[in-house]
Amino acid sequence: MGDVVLGIETSCDETAVAVVERASVVRSSVVSSQIEQHARFGGVVPEIAGRAHVQELVPVLAEALATAGVEGPDVEVVAATTGPGLVGSLLVGVSAAKALSLVWGVPFVSVNHLEAHLYASFLEEPDLELPLVVLLVSGGHTMLVLMEDHGRYRLLGSTLDDAAGEAFDKVARYLGLGYPGGPAIDALATGGDGSAFDYPRSMVQENPDTLPDDRRYAFSFSGLKTAVVNHVRHDPDSPTADVAASFQEAVVDALVTKARWAVEATGARGACLGGGVAANSLLRERFLDMCIGTGVRAFLPSRSMCTDNAAMVAAAGWWRFQSDGPSPLDTGADPNQGLPLLS
Ligand code: KG4
Ligand code: ZN
Repeated sequence: MGDVVLGIETSCDETAVAVVERASVVRSSVVSSQIEQHARFGGVVPEIAGRAHVQELVPVLAEALATAGVEGPDVEVVAATTGPGLVGSLLVGVSAAKALSLVWGVPFVSVNHLEAHLYASFLEEPDLELPLVVLLVSGGHTMLVLMEDHGRYRLLGSTLDDAAGEAFDKVARYLGLGYPGGPAIDALATGGDGSAFDYPRSMVQENPDTLPDDRRYAFSFSGLKTAVVNHVRHDPDSPTADVAASFQEAVVDALVTKARWAVEATGARGACLGGGVAANSLLRERFLDMCIGTGVRAFLPSRSMCTDNAAMVAAAGWWRFQSDGPSPLDTGADPNQGLPLLS
């Protein structure tokens, strides 16, 4: 029951709808990005995002149903991201999902956006073995999670300040590379020298045991961002490609080193990436090397599944529906909703 899930994602600047069966067969996944509307402001403008979702949701929904070859009543569950995210944006998807659930007479399932990013990997590789270390790196979050079972997560550590994607976006903005900064730095760095400048790696050292427990898996990127800005101010002739590559090297080094510590300390059987920054070329390469080195199975979701999409929402929604059943229709949008963690 509940195998054909319609997923809706409107938490930030992507309006997305997908139809997914049993969290593993993607029948359609349509994403309408608002990047062009936000680019000239150098970041996502909440008011513009909310309006664009209102405009885009119905056409995106129609395309997702048509591509999947399903009519409304064929859908068995409607799942939508209820948080975290921008409240005005979330409300568009949540209201639409509840309306469809009422009209079609099918259950509504509330999905946590971070849990959806975790499920992007299972969507493409349903046989992933648990426990699994997940490095979740997006524009709003950076965390290392131990997934013990479906729906059972332990937070190992998260960022104390900027998220990794936020650091990419801020540094790119300073370097005049436009928005979003991650893909721009990724592309420019391929022609640069990552060892040109030795930028700081926060809370990374030879022996993880010398760090206090609450810092071992923690990240911090604001000092790195300041170091890049100060360096470029003092030495404006530094080749931008070398600055981008050295910055990227520092971010990836911190992320992969701590993911390796987590794999070694937890005895996880596998490790995977999730979130928009997981599309980064150097991170993918180093993460894979780390998994080969530690002898665990690696999984890197395809780039289109790393950034925001509704297929991952439908997949997480299917798993949630199997374990918890439908969500009450008075479930609201919650901009600060955290990943449901084991205590
Ligand atoms: O997961 P996502 O699509 O949205 C959030 O939930 O935040 O992540 C967006 C973030 C942005 O900060 C963007 O710059 C970053 O992911 N990003 C990248 C790359 N592609 C997207 N960062 C580094 N390298 C990339 N190739
Ligand atoms: Zn996201």
